[in-house]
Amino acid sequence: MKRIALVTGATGSIGEEFVSRIEETEEVDEIWAVGRNREKLENLCKDHGKVRAVEADLANDGIECIKKKLSSEEVDVKILVNNAGVAYMGLFENMKPEEIDKFIKVNCTVPAELISVTLPYMNRGARIINISSASSFQPNPYLSLYSSSKVFLRNLSRAVNVELKAKGITSTAVCPGFVDTGMLPETKDGKKIRYAGLISAKKVVKLALHDSKKGKDMSVPGFSAKYFRCYSKITPTSIVMKQWCLGVKKYL
Ligand SMILES: NC(=O)c1ccc[n+]([C@@H]2O[C@H](COP(=O)([O-])OP(=O)(O)OC[C@H]3O[C@@H](n4cnc5c(N)ncnc54)[C@H](OP(=O)(O)O)[C@@H]3O)[C@@H](O)[C@H]2O)c1
Repeated sequence: MKRIALVTGATGSIGEEFVSRIEETEEVDEIWAVGRNREKLENLCKDHGKVRAVEADLANDGIECIKKKLSSEEVDVKILVNNAGVAYMGLFENMKPEEIDKFIKVNCTVPAELISVTLPYMNRGARIINISSASSFQPNPYLSLYSSSKVFLRNLSRAVNVELKAKGITSTAVCPGFVDTGMLPETKDGKKIRYAGLISAKKVVKLALHDSKKGKDMSVPGFSAKYFRCYSKITPTSIVMKQWCLGVKKYL
């Protein structure tokens, strides 16, 4: 029986960091790296001996492709990392219904389905890691669909963690603030954007794997996200949103 880790969004910055660190520190035989970008997937295979590329579009039939692969091999899923995600910063009214549909599919439906699809292949000690965001701590205007989708994932992750306790399987919601990855635009009007509390993908992934190993249901990396979490708990939401609106203007 092959021990595997399955990482979605493996072609992105945080995903690639998960692949590297899992290869270095976890006892798995293969890492199934899911992504759409074939060239990046090929490079991952070249750089990491344990990687097996799974080319799949999660906004379309990607989940079916993963299901088929799981059922065609004898696998023991040790780690599932629900990391693939999309973001949109701007007015909600500018999003078309079909864009909203795909957005929700990648950020919410697919992570939920992947948990369901991989659970039959998990045993005691298996770990689920869901990449939510600090934007799940409060409603974020101009990031409205994104922050809402991350609330879904955080709540699902924590609730499932409780349900799976008896089986010895953990589920950890990872909630970073701004992370230095390709997801964030670098410049606005030719000027470099400075993101408050920006941290590296390395820091996020190191803590996420550590916290999931300890069985924690939340992993909040960096001072800024930790502060934001407490602040959002004790401050009226209308005030938090007003302050967010003042800060977000420089990114729009
Ligand atoms: N960067 C931040 O500030 C930040 C903060 C908090 C949370 N996060 C979360 O961290 C996760 C990783 O993001 P990142 O910052 O590493 O961004 P990234 O470099 O843009 O990575 C996004 C990943 O998602 C994959 N993806 C997107 N749509 C897909 C689809 N339809 N099918 C398959 N894969 C798809 C991309 O794959 P392809 O390139 O192959 O299409 C890529 O590997 C996301 O869930 C994000 O919301 C990021």
